[in-house]
Amino acid sequence: MAEAAHQPPALTILPDAVQLAQAAVNEFRAAAQAGIAQHGRFTVALSGGNTPRTVYSLLSQECRESLDWRKIFIFFGDERHVPPDDPQSNYRMARESLLSRVPLPEQNVFRVGAELPAEQAADDYEEKLRSFFQLAPGTFPRFDLIFLGLGEDGHTASLFPGSVALSETSRLAVANWVKKFKAFRITVTFPVLNAAAQVIFLVSGADKAGIVREIFTNPNAAYPSQSVRPRNGRLRWLLDRPAASLLAESSHHH
Ligand code: 6PG
Repeated sequence: MAEAAHQPPALTILPDAVQLAQAAVNEFRAAAQAGIAQHGRFTVALSGGNTPRTVYSLLSQECRESLDWRKIFIFFGDERHVPPDDPQSNYRMARESLLSRVPLPEQNVFRVGAELPAEQAADDYEEKLRSFFQLAPGTFPRFDLIFLGLGEDGHTASLFPGSVALSETSRLAVANWVKKFKAFRITVTFPVLNAAAQVIFLVSGADKAGIVREIFTNPNAAYPSQSVRPRNGRLRWLLDRPAASLLAESSHHH
């Protein structure tokens, strides 16, 4: 059922980063089992950066045997414009912490070809999405689950404040110039995020406390992450206590 737009998203606060990772693993496992049971496969878009590394390595330890990885299909919400073996690569981080540790067929992983020129990488990734999901023109892939992170500037995926990709409404993936990095990122767009069956933000650490308070107390602030409102899907926030430390007691939804 569709979440009412005004409804505050479900917020769960875990005591620390390890218990946040455990909660994320539990959500991944439940969504994967449900997706495979209901439609024979589970499609997930992974987030990058540092926060999810702990999640992915715990996932590889806990679910190596208990999930049918042949039916799990891995995509990425965004990618840096670097080759797949670059230390900055989200694919490399996921490969090291998860993909190389579980019996996942190679053809089940759809990485962004970020070694290509940026626009070509985005076109290529969009084509991978269109053909895997067998999309009719003008339709968007409905991921079973999308993990997202939150930047201190309120960005998510590589949808940064003030960047062109924020206003993209028809492409599935674009090359987005990020001024502060003087670099391109390849990112899925809001229509893809908002077509998902479930989106879970994973936010850890005291550094994020300020932006978390902004987002949960200022609904009109218009940070990019606030435009993530799945039209017919579930939106969840998993925070650890340091990241939630500036939230008033009253705003906790356990
Ligand atoms: C990336 C991510 C990005 C990340 C946030 C938070 O490519 O870096 O997709 O959106 O989730 O920047 O990053 P940390 O988890 O490293 O704080």
